[in-house]
Amino acid sequence: MDKMVWVLSFILIVGIEGINAAEKYDVKSFRILTKLCTKCHGTPFYMAKQIDEDDWDFFFENEEKMLKLHKDKSEGMNAFKSTLFQSYKEKLRKFLIDNSKYSGTVHGCDGNFCGTHH
Ligand code: HEC
Repeated sequence: MDKMVWVLSFILIVGIEGINAAEKYDVKSFRILTKLCTKCHGTPFYMAKQIDEDDWDFFFENEEKMLKLHKDKSEGMNAFKSTLFQSYKEKLRKFLIDNSKYSGTVHGCDGNFCGTHH
């Protein structure tokens, strides 16, 4: 009987952790995008929603096309050339895809973000 209670508690705790994990997002990517792109593109969640998953894949696989769109914007070019962008590229791509147009992800308030669009 005791063993049964222990097993059930374990399942319950793992289950709750799982629900919490599903609501979290990559805060590091959120901060990097805020630093590098928000000035022109709005908050990272807003920015991510502007295009769909395939578009984000396209732009990250064809970085030169993404760069070309920014060629008249030196600040934009610097953002892409920064070591911050270059070293976190894959994580940023995942963040943007996870929050893209048809992802259905909507974030409420937390310590980093409070539901504003810009
Ligand atoms: C100095 C302003 C500026 C910064 C900083 C900037 N962008 Fe942009 N970005 C633009 C403009 C303006 C366009 C639209 C260009 C066009 O359509 O001709 C654009 C377009 C894009 C596009 C094409 C799709 C779309 O939404 O129109 C992507 C993808 C993109 N930017 C990603 C980024 C990322 C990622 C960062 C940060 C690493 C970033 N940009 C930083 C100004 C900026």
